[in-house]
Amino acid sequence: MKVDDLIVYGKSKVHSDLAKMLLADLMDINSLELLTILDREVSSDIEKEYKFRVDELRKGRPIQYIIGNVNFCGNILEINENVLIPRFETEQLVVNTVEKIKELWPNQSIDLIDLGTGSGAIGLSIKKKLPNVNVTLLDISEKALEVAKKNATNLNINVKYILNDMLENLANKYDVIVSNPPYIKTNEEIEDIVKNNEPHLALYAGDDGLDCYRKILSHVKENINNKYLIAFEIGDTQKEDLYKLAEEFLTNYNIECVKDFSSRDRMIFIWNK
Ligand SMILES: C[S@@+](CC[C@H](N)C(=O)[O-])C[C@H]1O[C@@H](n2cnc3c(N)ncnc32)[C@H](O)[C@@H]1O
Repeated sequence: MKVDDLIVYGKSKVHSDLAKMLLADLMDINSLELLTILDREVSSDIEKEYKFRVDELRKGRPIQYIIGNVNFCGNILEINENVLIPRFETEQLVVNTVEKIKELWPNQSIDLIDLGTGSGAIGLSIKKKLPNVNVTLLDISEKALEVAKKNATNLNINVKYILNDMLENLANKYDVIVSNPPYIKTNEEIEDIVKNNEPHLALYAGDDGLDCYRKILSHVKENINNKYLIAFEIGDTQKEDLYKLAEEFLTNYNIECVKDFSSRDRMIFIWNK
């Protein structure tokens, strides 16, 4: 079949932009280039794989898992079903955390840990932007850490890895703790495409959605240096809960909630006075 015929086939089953993305990815070109070769014959192997992928997409598998990578903060990260698909909102956590680090420790070499790193999205992006920062990636999932390691290798980045339940029994101290932990309530309604495809270990955090924040903050004093920064992504209704948790477990600190581009409360920064 020709490129044009395959696009027509894909469009009859899924959104035309996604059909083009799938075919372009298989042919190792971008969707615009695809439109310049509409008459080209496609090999039977690619045709077969394309039809399989269109079917996967039609059945509700996210395109990011089908293609196997995402662009996050300008870096291509490999992903699979063992890790959360990195979100646009999390890029804003990276940008804001980098700014805070620059303010608090201008040009200094500091130690940072990314708790619940998944694909490594946050920690690796920060390391790319601030090569002086010593980065550790931590996750409770061995399979997620494997993905993070693959991404670090692909990006030629040198970081440390820890397989652990957040800060439980961890002796090391850090200047910066950054995390986008699971924060969805056990009974919360979420989109089917998320619930049916992404790892529940990456999504759910107990009846009030706060289990991971509680777990981190209850230990955090033993794992932070005198001068510290804690940066969290949060659900858009969790600001007050996080303010209360900070009050419960920390003293003498500054706290700031930052909104995302949709004006929702999505990031919390805590640093010492
Ligand atoms: C919401 S995902 C975030 C992944 C990645 N940081 C991102 O922003 O795309 C949360 C991650 O936390 C990990 N996780 C869940 N519970 C954990 C725990 N108790 N200790 C360490 N990691 C945990 C999950 O395996 C998952 O990779």
